Amino acid sequence: MTTIATAPATPSLRAGLELERLGPGFGAIVHGIDLRRPTEVQMEQLRGALVEHKVLFFRGQDLADADQVAFASRLGKPTAGHPVAATAAAHAEIYPIDSTDPEFSFSDEWHTDVTFMQTPPAASVLRAVRLPDTGGDTSWADSQLAYESLSEPVRRLVDGLTAVHDGNREWGAYLRRHGGRGNEWDGRTVTGLTPVEHPVVRVHPVSGRRGLFVNPGFTSHIIGVSDAESRGILDLLYAHLTKPEHTIRHRWAVGDVGVWDNRSTAHYANRDYTQPRVMARVTIRGDRPVGPTT
Ligand code: SIN
Repeated sequence: MTTIATAPATPSLRAGLELERLGPGFGAIVHGIDLRRPTEVQMEQLRGALVEHKVLFFRGQDLADADQVAFASRLGKPTAGHPVAATAAAHAEIYPIDSTDPEFSFSDEWHTDVTFMQTPPAASVLRAVRLPDTGGDTSWADSQLAYESLSEPVRRLVDGLTAVHDGNREWGAYLRRHGGRGNEWDGRTVTGLTPVEHPVVRVHPVSGRRGLFVNPGFTSHIIGVSDAESRGILDLLYAHLTKPEHTIRHRWAVGDVGVWDNRSTAHYANRDYTQPRVMARVTIRGDRPVGPTT
């Protein structure tokens, strides 16, 4: 374990965080923080570490729903738990991901949270509440590492492309079953899922690094090319994004909290369990994705 100064060289931040890196590229376990009472200096360091390391894990936290919302509120401004899905009765910021829910659908497809909205979340905070004896890990892919390891001609090609993201396949039927009334997102109640356009390459608003911003979960097609070209380009990008060297995998323990930068990662919940698995997710408000040419 090493102590790494992760935040800008502001004198008050010099102490750094105790980070255990999970690989050469991204991902880290943060030690020595109680998420129920982080100091403002630690919060500043965490915001910096999140941009740099992209996925952070905190072991052995003992958070109740209210603690998770309070921590997320220190990180940024929580959104509704989900634009469409039911949220926790006492905390509208929490999206319960509960495999015992009759309407539960597995997240066993690579995706970046809520890219089917104009303003997808900047970050997600996920807490392990109940776990199967074995299985139920989550994997993440580093979309910036993936972009940077493409060849230069392919980077040039994708830099100028725009894609459509459509939440209807995943959430359209759910919304209809619930009378066409979702939750409030960006100041309006979601009553339908109009497909949105995002750049295929996103420029991170804090670091300025470029990353692939397409995912099999929600991206339907690329604009301005044929269907066959769109399929071919997306398949190429998905295969590249999810190469093992661009990914990490976390084995959860109850009480773990994972926080990821939703602007520079995609993730996948492994569907390899038969006992109940319950997670609680809070997402942090983000801004409209910007590409290299927008
Ligand atoms: C998610 O897709 O945001 C949740 C991932 C998980 O349940 O592991």
